[in-house]
Amino acid sequence: MSAAERIAELRTELERHNRLYYIDADPVISDAEYDRIFRELETFEAAHPELNDPNSPTKRVGGAPLEGFEQVPHLVPMLSIDDVFEEEEVENFYKRLQKNLGTTAVPVTIEPKIDGVAATIIYRHGVLDYGATRGDGTTGDDVTANLRTIRALPLSLPDSAPALLEVRGEVFMPNAAFAKLNEEREEQGLPAFANPRNATAGTLKQLDSRAVAKRPLAFIAHGLGSLEGAELKSEAAFRELLEASGIPRNEPLWKTDSLAGVLEAIRELDEKRHHLPYQTDGAVIKVASFPSRTALGATSRAPRWSAAFKYPPEQKPTLLKGITAQVGRSGILTPVAELDPVALSGTTVSRATLHNESFIHERDIRIGDTVLAHKAGEIIPEVLSVVQEKRPSDSKAFSMHEHLDGKCPACEAPIVKRENTVDRDGQPYTVVTWWCENMSCPEKAVAGLTHFAQRKSLDLDGLGESVAIKLVESGLATSPLDLFELDQESLANLLLDPAKLQTGETSKPRRFGEKKAQLLLASLKSAASSQPLSRWIFAMGIPQIGESASKELSRLHESIPDVAQSEILNTVRRIADLEAERKETSPQNKDNPPTNETEKEDRKKAHDLLKTQIADLQSEIAPYQISPDIGAVASHCLKTYFDSEHGEQFLERFAKLALHPKSNNFAPKPAEAAAAGDLPLTGSSFVITGTLSQGRGEFKSLIEEKGGKVTGSISKNTDYLLIGEGGGSKRDKAITLGVTVISESDFLEMLS
Ligand code: IVH
Repeated sequence: MSAAERIAELRTELERHNRLYYIDADPVISDAEYDRIFRELETFEAAHPELNDPNSPTKRVGGAPLEGFEQVPHLVPMLSIDDVFEEEEVENFYKRLQKNLGTTAVPVTIEPKIDGVAATIIYRHGVLDYGATRGDGTTGDDVTANLRTIRALPLSLPDSAPALLEVRGEVFMPNAAFAKLNEEREEQGLPAFANPRNATAGTLKQLDSRAVAKRPLAFIAHGLGSLEGAELKSEAAFRELLEASGIPRNEPLWKTDSLAGVLEAIRELDEKRHHLPYQTDGAVIKVASFPSRTALGATSRAPRWSAAFKYPPEQKPTLLKGITAQVGRSGILTPVAELDPVALSGTTVSRATLHNESFIHERDIRIGDTVLAHKAGEIIPEVLSVVQEKRPSDSKAFSMHEHLDGKCPACEAPIVKRENTVDRDGQPYTVVTWWCENMSCPEKAVAGLTHFAQRKSLDLDGLGESVAIKLVESGLATSPLDLFELDQESLANLLLDPAKLQTGETSKPRRFGEKKAQLLLASLKSAASSQPLSRWIFAMGIPQIGESASKELSRLHESIPDVAQSEILNTVRRIADLEAERKETSPQNKDNPPTNETEKEDRKKAHDLLKTQIADLQSEIAPYQISPDIGAVASHCLKTYFDSEHGEQFLERFAKLALHPKSNNFAPKPAEAAAAGDLPLTGSSFVITGTLSQGRGEFKSLIEEKGGKVTGSISKNTDYLLIGEGGGSKRDKAITLGVTVISESDFLEMLS
């Protein structure tokens, strides 16, 4: 099989798995296996730049940052939809359809209105050509590189695809991903996104598609733009085409041909939409037949064949009784609103996040105020704003330092203020956060234990937050490794909070009990012997080391001590430091321009020297193909952690406990790893000389493709001299050194 064929095969295979995973939710291989195929493709592509394809699945991780987005005119305008808010307006809309189409039974469809960012995607001859945002409806931003990172979006279509297919749809961030992203941002002292739509818009606007690739955006198609080489007569036919193309469709869908049916669908959807994994804010009604749509036409703003019924936003006023501070795993203090209980999107809410001090001050939220609360992304209860008219005269402004008397509410250590200035809509915005820096703060310990035990970490049985609190309070375990020294008896005797009885009274404190103790100890034992290194690294809860960074670390290292002493990470850090120095030194640095010609010259020299140093280091680690998850920030955080007393203690105890989690994806140099397969020339080194039937370059590629290496001059390490006409001088040297001399026909025989 040629490299081109193998590359095509791997690309098809990866896209098939993307579809199974992201669209059918029915993966058939493990993540590790997917990663293996992915890396094999990366290796082949690196060896064959001539077979580069922007639509390769490897490009889904993003590419070099852009200077700005190109503007693209839309093939057909991207219109808006007319919004309606009352059932009566729905009735008027449907009656208009009946009148204009001259029939009482107008078949229509009803589907969720997804609250995301509109995008259009153009496939030409079955290949993703480009994609753009709505912009002003006539022209949008070319965000192709960012859209390519969306795994649910096919990069190529089956052979049956029409010559031109323009699909319109919604890019969005699923609720769970949004909640996780905000949680991470909060832990880092970054401002939270207000809702999934803002998070999506902020992400799509990024010029660096590698950063976009790290945010799990999704796409659902809801409309047809232009089409050539096929004819579609109805919504049903369009949906069949989407299905056949592997493009995600908008569901659930209702079909009806009466007003009563439309109203019922709208009500049913209102029940269902809160269980969808993304935000919806309405129901879109569309005429089903495409010829009828053409007959109805459009105004300059919106088509006449569609309307969107908007559901009222789920926000409710309630009393802000007080503000408490919650200590996170990293020690950040998050202000939490204590509210009069209020029913919101299906649950009763009595606490809501206030993010940080800047958030509170910006909205002038005071204790005693009546505030509007909602659930951001259907999940996170949040205070939105103050109902000013209801402000009592004795409302109290909030200052974290004053409120907490300068002390951590959990351990009374002094709290520390940090300010972080970030870009928000082009303006600098300072986020003020407060931190507890005490490494043995009990609340941090609880958060640390809970994180260590959670499903994505070591998945320990029966260790949730409430048990973690009791473990810390009782002193049985204050750090994760303490768990490995627990004995059955004291664990079984651990007293938990009293249970609420049906009578409304509470029982006596309950014991954790023998059975649960046994289960937890068994799951600790199995975690020690069989959870992979990546989960262990993630479980340690090192700032900035999330799941993907942990996986990458376990690909590059064989054990936790290896990570702690990693030369690779040292180099990554060194590059980051030199890069910062280079930016500072650059004579082009606008914040610190050179003051005279001599300085400019000197700085240019220093800058050039730094550039070479950086390039040298980069080529040193290039074979590792390190993902951007392990960059400047992560490598510095790892160093800070392992250099700290806390980190040192962890390593020491880890060794004492004889824990040896193993990497299940160790493959530090993908190129070598892939070559180490059963390729016929693996491990052989060649020198080529003389005139052969094809160029030397051709032979070189062939040798490398089959796992061999080609060097320029003969040494005692050379295995074969491949010789053509007129290669006499090297033949003598080869013979002296004991290198096997082969002709072109010998060589071809070797390959077969
Ligand atoms: S159909 C000609 N269906 O809402 C417009 N749009 O407010 C036909 N949207 O720009 C659009 N969910 O981006 C349609 N199920 C859905 C939708 C939907 C969200 C967006 C769309 C449009 C905006 C208009």
